[in-house]
Amino acid sequence: MLLALESSCDETSVAVVHDGRVLANVVASQIKLHAEYGGVVPELATREHLRNLPPVTQSALEGADIQPKQLDAIAATIGPGLPQALMIGARAAQTMAFALHKPFFGINHHEAHLYSPWVVVAPNLDSGTPNNPPLRADFGNFQPNVSLIVSGGHTILVLVEAELKHHLLGSTVDDAAGECFDKSAKLMGLPYPGGPELDALAEQGDPRAFDFPRPMIRELHDDFSFSGLKTSVRYFLRDQPFILDDPESVRDLCASVRAAIVDVLVTKTVRAAKRLGVQCVTASGGVTCNRALRKQLAEACASNGLTLRLADKSLCTDNAAMVGILAERKLQHGVAPTSLDEEVKPSWPIA
Ligand code: KG4
Ligand code: ZN
Repeated sequence: MLLALESSCDETSVAVVHDGRVLANVVASQIKLHAEYGGVVPELATREHLRNLPPVTQSALEGADIQPKQLDAIAATIGPGLPQALMIGARAAQTMAFALHKPFFGINHHEAHLYSPWVVVAPNLDSGTPNNPPLRADFGNFQPNVSLIVSGGHTILVLVEAELKHHLLGSTVDDAAGECFDKSAKLMGLPYPGGPELDALAEQGDPRAFDFPRPMIRELHDDFSFSGLKTSVRYFLRDQPFILDDPESVRDLCASVRAAIVDVLVTKTVRAAKRLGVQCVTASGGVTCNRALRKQLAEACASNGLTLRLADKSLCTDNAAMVGILAERKLQHGVAPTSLDEEVKPSWPIA
């Protein structure tokens, strides 16, 4: 039985994991708090983690119906992320591990994302609620894969050769894909974070209506760049501000911007998988909720004979379940625990 904490950005989350089953995964999101500032304010995030961590921990323990003395290990994300936000979760977990005389596992947030597509909804388990489905790890079907982690802060491509063995293929050299969604949405006057709303409007629009650049799509390396695309949306709207007065044109604009971002993500991910000869593609992170990304990745993988594993929507955004699943796997593979005075690592490359 393992307790996991996640506090690297704007979600305070605590999960209880046992033998690959997620017994509880409680997430307190701060999106509304940061919305009026148009982005995550680190100082506010830190205070909110401090406020939320005790009740979220309590409700995870109650949800799993366990006592702290039943825990075999404690885990927390220790990087990358906002320094003070990370410290809240890491220090709380290290203190619990000390008090309970249990091992502590300091987890890399991106490494945790890599394993969330291997956590599946298991309807035959009795735990869970409609908003918090019963989940269990499916490592029995594990395959080497190319994994896309795509969120508001990161866009990275990783080769996962085996469980716990991976290396970084590429990452964004400027903005993350989620940032490009959010900043484009902001230029259109949509509220923060605009990614989901842009996605919803795009569903009714024509993706071929306006032509936006697909940065680095033809370049054979695995890096990404999205700031130029955001800038072209800015110039497009500077030159044609009247577009925003017509709801149909706004939907077409959303669909066209979404198509540009998704084309780049899908093309580069599938190309990397084929080049490296792996048979499986996985994706996780908040942007993996995007409908066009899910659909286009599915189509591209099917036509290239690749298996696709997308993180369940409940695990796309930041959560402690993925941290717990990875920590438990490390425990089972005999990986040494992390020191109780290990510092947080705000910048921690995945490999
Ligand atoms: O993983 P996440 O919760 O937090 C981090 O950034 O670490 O991801 C949040 C990001 C935001 O940029 C949000 O706009 C984007 O994921 N996002 C979406 C969608 N849902 C969330 N972007 C496009 N389409 C969506 N449906
Ligand atoms: Zn994340």
